[in-house]
Amino acid sequence: MNIHGTPTRTIRPLPDFAGVEIIDQTLLPHRLEFRPLRTLDDAAEAIAVMRVRGAPLIGVTAAYGLALGLADEAHDATLETGCARLLATRPTAVNLRWALERMQGVLVPLPAAQRRGAAWREAAAIADEDVALNQAIGRHGMALLRACHERRARTVQVMTHCNAGWLATVDWGTALAPIYAAFDAGIPVHVWVSETRPRNQGASLTAWELAQHGVPHTVIADNAAGHLMQHGQVDLVIVGADRVAANGDVANKIGTYMKALAAHDNGVPFHVAVPGPTIDWRLADGTGIPIEERAAAEVTHIPGATEDDGVTSVRLTPPQSAAANPAFDVTPARLVHSIVTERGVCPATAAGLAALYPHGARA
Ligand code: MRU
Repeated sequence: MNIHGTPTRTIRPLPDFAGVEIIDQTLLPHRLEFRPLRTLDDAAEAIAVMRVRGAPLIGVTAAYGLALGLADEAHDATLETGCARLLATRPTAVNLRWALERMQGVLVPLPAAQRRGAAWREAAAIADEDVALNQAIGRHGMALLRACHERRARTVQVMTHCNAGWLATVDWGTALAPIYAAFDAGIPVHVWVSETRPRNQGASLTAWELAQHGVPHTVIADNAAGHLMQHGQVDLVIVGADRVAANGDVANKIGTYMKALAAHDNGVPFHVAVPGPTIDWRLADGTGIPIEERAAAEVTHIPGATEDDGVTSVRLTPPQSAAANPAFDVTPARLVHSIVTERGVCPATAAGLAALYPHGARA
């Protein structure tokens, strides 16, 4: 992704294993600020308070965070406590567990003195692979947009929810990768960006990164989605996911399920774009996916820009009103038209996923 014309990843190592640099996403779209993470605790804090967020980027940050927690001699106990600390930060995105298990798989067999260097190399490999996976999702997903453009001979109207773009990954994004690929290939595309209360990842992050890339888009209140679909203003919906069960049930940002219902009722194809590490082969269906409950303050308050370019938070609700904040929901596979992966596009069924990932399905 180009930021002010410079290719930029959302996370990058600092020289001499001194740390990694991230974009503090809690400040966007008001301020673009890079922030160093120098310890495992810095990484855990950044994930927990959502300075970094989005399933793939959470996994990559945890991998680097583990590397940051290892001294020159890294003993088994250090590895175990580091993984446990990072794993506890956020429960729903399975990429976190996937990345930490991959790190452990590489590090545990090594002598203690070799683990630190290997951890940095493996974290970098996970980051590089994320970029390649998302580019492949972009190629496969672009075919859906191209087909729609050829069929309708006009601008393709895509709706998305939350932020499954560049900012949710190391580069390109998952749900937004096909949109960037289509835009770059000259396919006319316009994106309906649903704001995604309570944290507004759509209004704050998706809108910001689409604007950086020059992709035409319009922000809508979450509640406007059904109306737009009912009036023929949406050709397809494409969202990301934080965890997909082996049968194609999809956990994604709260509000995804309602969009899928509206899409189903109006005959609008509803696609979910995910890289392989977001599929949880240990879960037969979505009923076992842990749903994160976040702080009520994310519902009762909202951040915004001040006159002097600061970022502040204001209260929306009466002080005596309670608020609940389930952060994800599960969309049943029957409402999902297709799953777009780095290996191709498949139906949201156990057989569809297993055909693309024969090894995963046997895991
Ligand atoms: O709570 P977040 O912002 O970490 O939620 C993750 C998301 O942005 C979405 O649910 C997204 O669609 C999946 S991550 C590519």
